[in-house]
Amino acid sequence: MPKHILITGGAGFIGSHVVRLFVNNYPDYKIINLDALTYAGNLENLKDIEHAPNYFFEKVNILDAAALETVFEKHEVSDVIHLAAESHVDRSISSPLDFVYTNIIGTVNLLNIARHRWKDNYAAHRFHHVSTDEVFGTLGDTGFFTETTSYSPNSPYSASKASSDHFVRAYGETYGMGYVITNCSNNYGPNHFPEKLIPLFINNIINNKPLPVYGKGENTRDWLFVIDHARAIDTVFHHGKNHDSYNVGGFNEWKNLDLVKLLCQLMDDRLGRAPGTSEQLINYVTDRPGHDLRYAIDASKINRELGWSPSVTFEEGLGRTIDWYLQNTEWLQHVTSGDYQKYYEGLYAGR
Ligand code: NAD
Ligand code: TYD
Repeated sequence: MPKHILITGGAGFIGSHVVRLFVNNYPDYKIINLDALTYAGNLENLKDIEHAPNYFFEKVNILDAAALETVFEKHEVSDVIHLAAESHVDRSISSPLDFVYTNIIGTVNLLNIARHRWKDNYAAHRFHHVSTDEVFGTLGDTGFFTETTSYSPNSPYSASKASSDHFVRAYGETYGMGYVITNCSNNYGPNHFPEKLIPLFINNIINNKPLPVYGKGENTRDWLFVIDHARAIDTVFHHGKNHDSYNVGGFNEWKNLDLVKLLCQLMDDRLGRAPGTSEQLINYVTDRPGHDLRYAIDASKINRELGWSPSVTFEEGLGRTIDWYLQNTEWLQHVTSGDYQKYYEGLYAGR
């Protein structure tokens, strides 16, 4: 059966890297990027491949079941790689319902249509759900999240992602639909919307603005270069065991404050500023409510069973990321104007 893969959220940060990888690596596949183009979706991310003969774009909201049905029919969708989501924890604290709608109801809409259209031969189709390590909650100072760690989400964002994971699993168990789930750690890299830690701080350093570190900066995250996440999705989509899940991460934990200091050093160097200049921008602000202390992924299953491992070291990936932002100031200006700017001012006004 010809592969006509619907990639949702393909105009976003991770989705755009996944779309590019599939369009370039699989010229025989038809790649349909479906995206509502919210504040986080930007077709500029895909300028280099927008004219590829195997690439198609549909501006559709996953809450619109009738429009989804039309897309499935028009493109004879054989598989789904689902990334469309509301993805920012701080926004989920101020507007939890947006996360319920897109992340839960939107996912169930997709599952319903896939179930209905693929029911005669589930074995020929796959629903790949892209999820996060945040569904597992928080770790103390030691230990790792494995695929069998219990779900214990603490933010409205992670609760909505956990719920969507459960629905995907339930459609597999109840109806026999083919699925795989990947739970990945924090990504960084080019095209990351500057509301998340690394791109926000790069942007603020460039513009000499304060760097709002939540609490004491002692929270720990496990960082993976976005292109390695896209490679992991490629691997699991093609070779992952049906009805299974895989944790994805780079065994690369950083305390926020250490990461911010490293970023400041690298930026001072790139911008020709005296060592220590950017660190002076660090501004400790009120902590995020329910702030998970530590995430750390045990990625040994995907390595052992499917041979995936990260291809880029953190040093190289962070350098590439900083250079990309310094060379793409126009992209930064575009995405930081308008609605995003208003939201950003509101978010930090009380801190
Ligand atoms: P993002 O916010 O950069 O992009 C999300 C994309 O989804 C945007 O293009 C947006 O326009 C689109 N979208 C949002 N709501 C939609 C709707 N209702 N209908 C159609 N399209 C809609 O997010 P990201 O960081 O690229 O994350 C992508 C996926 O990966 C998410 O499911 C997220 O939970 C997961 N994930 C992210 C990370 C991370 O570090 N960023 C880590 C692990 C997993
Ligand atoms: P973020 O990039 O929002 O990802 P997540 O919350 O999904 O892990 O945040 C990464 C870490 O950085 C997290 O511990 C919160 C912290 N943080 C700050 O200290 N200041 C900020 O302005 C932001 C956006 C995040």
